[in-house]
Amino acid sequence: MTDFSISTYPDTGEIYRRLDALMQLPIHGIKPDAMTKYLQHFDLHCAKSKEMVTRARELIPGGVQHNLAFNHPFPIVIEKADGAYLWDIDDNRYIDFLQAGGPTMLGSNYRPVRDKIIELINEQAPVTGLFSEYELLLAEEINKHVPSVEMFRMLGSGTEAVMAAARVARLASKRKKVIKLGGAYHGWSDQMVYGLHIPGTRGFEAHGIPKSYRKHTQEVYPNSIGALKKNLTVNKLKGGTAAVIVEPMGPESGTRPIDREYNKQVRELCDQHDVFLIFDEVVTFGRIGLSGAQGYFGIKPDLTVFGKVVAGGYPGAGGLGGRRDIMEHLAAGIEAGKKRAYVGGTLAASPISSAAGYYAIQEIERTNACQKAGRAGDRMTAGLEKLIQERNLPYVAYNQGAICHLETVGAMFVKLNYLKIRSVLKEIKERKLAMEEMGAAYMAEGIITLGGSRMYTSMADTDEVVDDALNRFARVFDNAK
Ligand SMILES: Cc1ncc(COP(=O)(O)O)c(C=O)c1O
Repeated sequence: MTDFSISTYPDTGEIYRRLDALMQLPIHGIKPDAMTKYLQHFDLHCAKSKEMVTRARELIPGGVQHNLAFNHPFPIVIEKADGAYLWDIDDNRYIDFLQAGGPTMLGSNYRPVRDKIIELINEQAPVTGLFSEYELLLAEEINKHVPSVEMFRMLGSGTEAVMAAARVARLASKRKKVIKLGGAYHGWSDQMVYGLHIPGTRGFEAHGIPKSYRKHTQEVYPNSIGALKKNLTVNKLKGGTAAVIVEPMGPESGTRPIDREYNKQVRELCDQHDVFLIFDEVVTFGRIGLSGAQGYFGIKPDLTVFGKVVAGGYPGAGGLGGRRDIMEHLAAGIEAGKKRAYVGGTLAASPISSAAGYYAIQEIERTNACQKAGRAGDRMTAGLEKLIQERNLPYVAYNQGAICHLETVGAMFVKLNYLKIRSVLKEIKERKLAMEEMGAAYMAEGIITLGGSRMYTSMADTDEVVDDALNRFARVFDNAK
């Protein structure tokens, strides 16, 4: 049975029209007096977190190890995760729409998978460095759901899998250029910290990375098939393009949503120019559906990048799959018959990662988790839209199934203008701060989002959980300017 989390594809024209309108208006952030109260909440109710993070700041840069944990006014320390909820060390409970950044489609710490992993550790070991049956079982499971994946190699993270994809595409095509969409995130490798968040920003965030490392990375404006066509044509005169890599729902997990027909047009262009198409399904595999966004759009990429759900919410979540003739370049050890694209990783494809991925995929299929999480995403988006309309706020809520977006300040929608770069940078900073304040307000009301504008739903998000969340969002919106 086809189990996708998307029931209706979003009307991207309407979303962009409303986002443009949002960007024309002054920021509708939290009112200053309400913000003061929200900040007091953290001092009053999150004292243990504050104390621990203050200590951590001495030893850990910024006080936390994970980018998504940098919350305003200070990070909170989580003690327990279960289903749709998180608890911090001060005993506050939160509705969890971060969901660890996406991998926990079944809800946090899902019992049937956890029991299997505990059994595995007790009876085998977390890691041996040699082959385990689960690697084969996981590869078979992925091949069954994602037919474009004729061969699969597991890696330590999505970042590593993107690196492997670029490397093997370059080796197999004997070309160098890799084109990405502006604003898309493909991990933090030297070559991919390019055009992050906002299209056109190129090396803005590439501090510490020599320019030469991104010499062969290019970005094109999302949804503009003409721009991609032009880029591919120009590259032909300069040695050609190895691959086009896309987040198939659009940059930043669909924050900038892709028009319904765009991926198909990209596939056609890649075919015309004899260029590999890479789908980065780190977020979408197992979230849009078990056949990924490619199953939803009915498109066959040459390579697919995996992460997150592929290890079922356990560590070591990365993998690359695709056409046999390309993937054979990734043969490990001495078996390489072809020239080898070198990849590795001490803990890659550990029994824990492989078994957790294998059991999670089976559970997602058995429980129809994508459909359930998508239903929760639809309910939340419809509810948020109602709250927004009732209060006449300029905010925009939209979702691609189990990926929900709530744009209140549009920090990633600032238009780049190199002639006015100072004022553009100032605007980005102001909007980022307003978004952090929004995130803090949500958290004070007991909701954890991803960076104040994205929410991942899971199977654990029942109607009751979503309705409770909507009441909390309503309180935040009542405090908006
Ligand atoms: C689309 C996409 N690609 C790649 C990555 C990098 O994956 P990882 O964080 O496992 O390195 C991410 C991470 O969020 C992602 O969203």
